[in-house]
Amino acid sequence: MDKLWGSRFEKDITAAVLDYTQTTDIDERLILSDIWGSIAHVVMLGRQEILIPAEGRALLKCLLGLYEEAGNGTLELNRELEDVHLNLEQQVIARLGLQVGGKIHTARSRNDQVVTDTRLYLREKILHLQAELVHFIEILIHRSGANMGKVMVGYTHGQPAQPVSVAFWLTSYASMLIRDFDRLTHAFTGTNKNPLGSCALAGTSFPIDRPLTARLLGFDGLLLHALDATSSRDFILETVSALSILMSNISRMAEEIVLFSSYEYNLVEVDDAYSTGSSIMPQKKNPVVVELARARCGRVFGSLIHVLTMVKGVPMGYNVDLQEDKPPLWRALDDTLSTVSIMREQMSRLTFNYQRALDLCRANFTTATELANHLVKEKGFSFRQAYQVTGTVVKELIKANKTLADLSAVGSELRKLQVEMDIEQLKDVIEPFQVMDQQVSQGGTSRKSVKEILEVLQGELEKRGDELKQRRQSLEQALTNTLQAARQFCDPESAG
Ligand code: ARG
Repeated sequence: MDKLWGSRFEKDITAAVLDYTQTTDIDERLILSDIWGSIAHVVMLGRQEILIPAEGRALLKCLLGLYEEAGNGTLELNRELEDVHLNLEQQVIARLGLQVGGKIHTARSRNDQVVTDTRLYLREKILHLQAELVHFIEILIHRSGANMGKVMVGYTHGQPAQPVSVAFWLTSYASMLIRDFDRLTHAFTGTNKNPLGSCALAGTSFPIDRPLTARLLGFDGLLLHALDATSSRDFILETVSALSILMSNISRMAEEIVLFSSYEYNLVEVDDAYSTGSSIMPQKKNPVVVELARARCGRVFGSLIHVLTMVKGVPMGYNVDLQEDKPPLWRALDDTLSTVSIMREQMSRLTFNYQRALDLCRANFTTATELANHLVKEKGFSFRQAYQVTGTVVKELIKANKTLADLSAVGSELRKLQVEMDIEQLKDVIEPFQVMDQQVSQGGTSRKSVKEILEVLQGELEKRGDELKQRRQSLEQALTNTLQAARQFCDPESAG
């Protein structure tokens, strides 16, 4: 029996047990992280003189070779070996023999190894997703610039409410997505801590240096408590929660585009490249990308429930239940990344039907609130009095099959209620564009307010973009430092 843990057993596991328990194919994506973690671990063992220099050199040379093979895709994993960690150790032993190769697992357990790998991998993915989000928000901001003076219907309760600008609508999502970015930063902070050196659950009697591996691996400090570090998966829950909230926000955007691109709304048009046809109805153009984005958030929510349920009954100390964290995490990451990136592309090509928006605003009394405001400002009414007068005007216009765009009808309805307004004055408080542009309060929809919103968003985005760049650079630097430390250990004469 050549299993690394085989000596205690009389029998090998059955093929069905292997199928049921192995994770090699799932954690294949951890291979580079596993080797990076192993290199850092061996550098540390060498510096602490837990290994003699010759052993450290042999192990590091071997690991550097394996890192290269894994990087260029020539390192084959064997599913019979159960998981990525045992694959790697087996490779080292096959190349160096049991006497030296067998030392790599000194002062380490798969229990701290697997969370180290997962954290290394996950933090990269979080940063990648954040970069995609920055790009998405940039597109929303960019498209807003050209659309500050274009009217869109603003809805509440699914009913036309007040005229807003297209830029205002677009920036509402930019504003929302910045918070998603921040939730991911929080998830990154929770993820980027070093569990390595916790060993199986209780720490170790070897004189290890945990801050050293933390530095080499680019972690922001230690996950100090060994039992907590090996048992906890809340960093995954935080990440998948952040992904779920992000997906729910994107799903709302997708839902709006499905609705707004229908004949009935006809406010936007989805680019042909982001739509497909019907196999039977030749006239159909279906907005399938946004429909699928709306649906796909279900899979991400599923991952959150999956991990929450998996973890809730697991006692402290590693239990193999915890290895079920990866498939839902991978799925949530993959689905969110692909959704953010394709939604960004399709939003950059979405076109707006400006005339239709004006027509809907006019036909649906969306400027009535501003008429009431005008009566307050100019005619000495309390807001509730003005509201009642305007409501009565609207009721009478509806009866007469007219709208607020029929200025003379509006004038005569007002006159019946003892309010004198000339038609020229009325234009300004009844035309959607003018009304949109009068909402000048901070955060409102006027061009002036949206200009300020855009400046704020731009500033927030730049700040986050810079932080992101720094985080990515410091992780790259950590990897470079680890590889260099390993080479230097192998060949102290060489500077790097
Ligand atoms: N494959 C395991 C996982 O993904 C690694 C740790 C297994 N440890 C153990 N004692 N079986 O979580």
